[in-house]
Formats: sequence, C-alpha cells, structure tokens
Amino acid sequence: MKPKLLIVEDDEEIRSQMKWALLKDHEVGLAGERASALTWFREHRPSVVLLDLGLPPHPGETTEGMAILSALLAEDRLTKVIIISGQGERANALEAIGRGAYDFLGKPVVMDDLRVILKRAYFLAQLEREQLAGAVAPDDSTSFEGMLGSGTVMRGVFESIRKVASTDAPVLILGESGTGKELAARAIHHRSARKKGPFVAINCGAIPENLIESELFGHEKGSFTGAHATRPGRIESAQGGTLFLDELGELPLPMQVKLLRFLQQREIERVGGRVAIPVDTRVIAATNSDLKQDMTDGKFREDLFYRLAVVVLRLPPLRERAGDVLLLAEALLKRFAEHYGKAGLKYDPTCLARIERHPWPGNVREMENRIRRAVIMAEGKRVTPPDLELEDAPVAAGATAPVSAALGGNLKEAREQVERELIQQVLRRHGGKITSAALELGISRPTLYELMEKLGISRQSPG
Ligand SMILES: Nc1ncnc2c1ncn2[C@@H]1O[C@H](COP(=O)(O)OP(=O)(O)OP(=O)(O)O)[C@@H](O)[C@H]1O
Ligand SMILES: [Mg+2]
Repeated sequence: MKPKLLIVEDDEEIRSQMKWALLKDHEVGLAGERASALTWFREHRPSVVLLDLGLPPHPGETTEGMAILSALLAEDRLTKVIIISGQGERANALEAIGRGAYDFLGKPVVMDDLRVILKRAYFLAQLEREQLAGAVAPDDSTSFEGMLGSGTVMRGVFESIRKVASTDAPVLILGESGTGKELAARAIHHRSARKKGPFVAINCGAIPENLIESELFGHEKGSFTGAHATRPGRIESAQGGTLFLDELGELPLPMQVKLLRFLQQREIERVGGRVAIPVDTRVIAATNSDLKQDMTDGKFREDLFYRLAVVVLRLPPLRERAGDVLLLAEALLKRFAEHYGKAGLKYDPTCLARIERHPWPGNVREMENRIRRAVIMAEGKRVTPPDLELEDAPVAAGATAPVSAALGGNLKEAREQVERELIQQVLRRHGGKITSAALELGISRPTLYELMEKLGISRQSPG
C-alpha cells in the first residue's frame, strides 16, 4: 500500500506539480485551505503532511499555516509536517519547527530533495508508531488486572487500586454506568490478601425489596412462608473474601440500617435466627447515583455513607480518558474478532475518527456492545462506520444512540451535540454543498466551515 500524503498548498500550479511528481509512490490528498485539509486528514490519517504557510484567508502571512500546523498536531502529535516556505521565509520555517513541524523545504521545491525528506519522515513516523504500539500492547503497562488504560487518568486509577488493595478498608467506587466499577472491585479483590477467598457481588437494585433482607442476611427454616430450609445469606457467603455491593444507591432505607449494623459489629443475624454470626469480609460498594444528593433528599443514610466511603475511587467516563478510546477500540475489536472466528478483522480508516468523535455516553459497556455487534455484522475484512452504527448521518429514530441519549454532560457538550447533528443533517440534504447548506442554516460560509472544523464534521461527498 502506498503511504498517504497530504499536500496543503493554495498555489494551484505548485500543487499539481507536486502531485504529479509524488503520485507514483504516494496516495496524495490535496487541499488549499484549512477546512478541507483537516477533513482529508481526519479521513485518511496520513503520517506526513506538506504544508505551505501562506494560505487563505491570509495568504500574505503565516498565521493560517501555523494554525493548521497546530490543528494537525493536535489531531495526531506524531504527524510529520514538512513546511514548504517561500524565499526569505526561513525565519518563519524555523518558527514552525519550534512549534512542532518536522522539517522545511524552500521554494522552488527541488523534487529530489523533497523525496529524501519524505522518505526520512515516513521512516521516522513508522518507527515512532511501532514504538508506541509496542508500548500500548494490551499485555504491557496499559493493562492492569484486565483493565485497559494508557493515559494519566487511568494510571492514577490503577495506582489507587494498588494502594487500597493492600489495606482492608472499605472502598466506595463511583462512576457513570459502564465505566468499569465492577472490574475495579474485582481488581481490588484480586490484589488483596483475601484473593483466595470468595468475591461475592450483590446488585442491590436487582433484588425485589421484600426478598432483600433474606438474600443479604439469610434465613432460618420456617422464619417466613416459603422458608423451607435454612439458608445462609450473601454476606455470610463472603466469609474470608470480599463483599461487593453494587448499585448501593438502590438499597432501601431499612436495609441501610441493617447493613450499617453489620459494618459496625461485623456480625449478622439471619432472618428468624437468634444467634449472631461473625462475618469477616471486606466491603466494596459501587454506585452511579449521586449519593450526596440522595443524602440531602433523605434517601441515603449519612452514617452508612461515611462507613463505606473510607476510600473513594472515582472511575472517569471514557470521554475524559484521552488516548484510551482508540486503545480500547482496537483491543475490543481484536477480542471479539477472535471470539467470533474473524481474526484479522480491521477497522476501515474512516472508523477511527468517528470512534474518537463519539461521546460514548455508555462508556466502555457501550463500546463493547457496538464493537461486538460490528464484528458480527462486518462483511469482508473491514469494520465500517455503519457496522458500528457510527455514521455522520443524523441518527434515525429507534437507532442505538438517539440525540437525547448522548445529551449527558454539561451544557456545552449538549449544545455541540445538537449543532453537530443538525449540520450533518443539512449537509447531507444538500449533498455536501457548503453554500446552500450555509444558506439553509442561516449562517455564512466561513462560519459553517468553522463550525464543521470545531465539531469534527466532514463534508459528505456530493450526491
Ligand atoms: N478499562 C477497561 N478495560 C477493559 N474493559 C473494561 C474497562 N472498563 C470496563 N470494561 C468492560 O466494560 C464492561 C462494563 O464494565 P463494568 O461492568 O465493570 O462497569 P460498571 O461501571 O459496573 O457498569 P454499570 O454501571 O453498567 O454496572 C465490562 O464488560 C468490563 O469488562
Ligand atoms: Mg456494574
């Protein structure tokens, strides 16, 4: 496969000269200004870019070129950007290198020089990527007890788990749904001195209210209708191990009182029983509800909260884990592809930008679901955005991610989500024609370009 090369140059003549010279050995993308440059970049992810600094709307200055340089490096800091500078622009070229450009070449461009620089740039880019890939192999430092994560945020989480695991303190795990709360609880258990004992998980929200006491504490034979035999409860069965109270916020108030008593006295009484049974277990609780608010509303007991929240472990939502989205996407694809007998399945290049752009309101769980589905749906060797149900199209009614579902988070995110979907809809209706789309949206062309860039929207191919 030919390496991809993006040429950003507003001079038609230089552009086509370079294109014809490089076409044989490269897959060349051409752009004359920022929006189309970024669009091509996002779709194709070239590792090398040739960039002219003087571009419209300010062809006489370097501001636009510098801005594009920053935008490209923000998209992928490993991109090798080679500056094409006019005569007497050496100072500008050097400034660009100071800002992260890889090299520069003066105009008129000598093709043989350019080829040498390009060759080196591709070589270096590949080397860096291989190193990075090696560093992020799932069995390396990016994996901790089955949890993947490469950024500083998740490293911090792993470090906290490591520290807290060696103590016997209760832990309260907070995080949105699908962020890996149960996985973290299991990791703590595994790393603790109790790892040979049982890990007993109870979903407080899943047990009917009238059964919850006997489920947790057990019952003696004949203690209520239907209690045909004596049965130990879940707390008792966690003897010597770890008790994981999932969805803690769902625990009814009367049960909160009983749980608190257990935590204070370390013994339980079965329903209908008369003896206190000592239970030695470590307690980890998790919730995605706002316990502070529940306490204010009188729905959650403060004393229980402080008993359980001796250590609080916060699992960040996926959107706050820079770099992890693609890491997880690749690892999960590999896992499911192997599982479903489709080993070697890869993402179509258009997928990755969309995966990065998606807000992932359902976090890792949502990602697992989408990728599992995509692996099942994929025809051939590539997973495409429709397989993932991640298209730039407006989301159809009944599809997996309605606008409202993504409207979590703060006002800014919600606004951008709505803007993004509206603009995509209108662009699609106008076959990607910016002028008519801008007209319908009631904004100017440059504003539309700016919004598209800000929101990461690519222009659909016309028709
Ligand atoms: N960092 C991670 N690396 C790999 N897989 C993960 C990670 N975090 C979560 N998962 C996977 O995502 C799924 C959801 O994780 P888990 O059940 O632990 O989340 P949760 O916070 O308890 O979710 P919920 O609120 O829905 O109960 C699981 O299949 C888990 O294996
Ligand atoms: Mg859970």
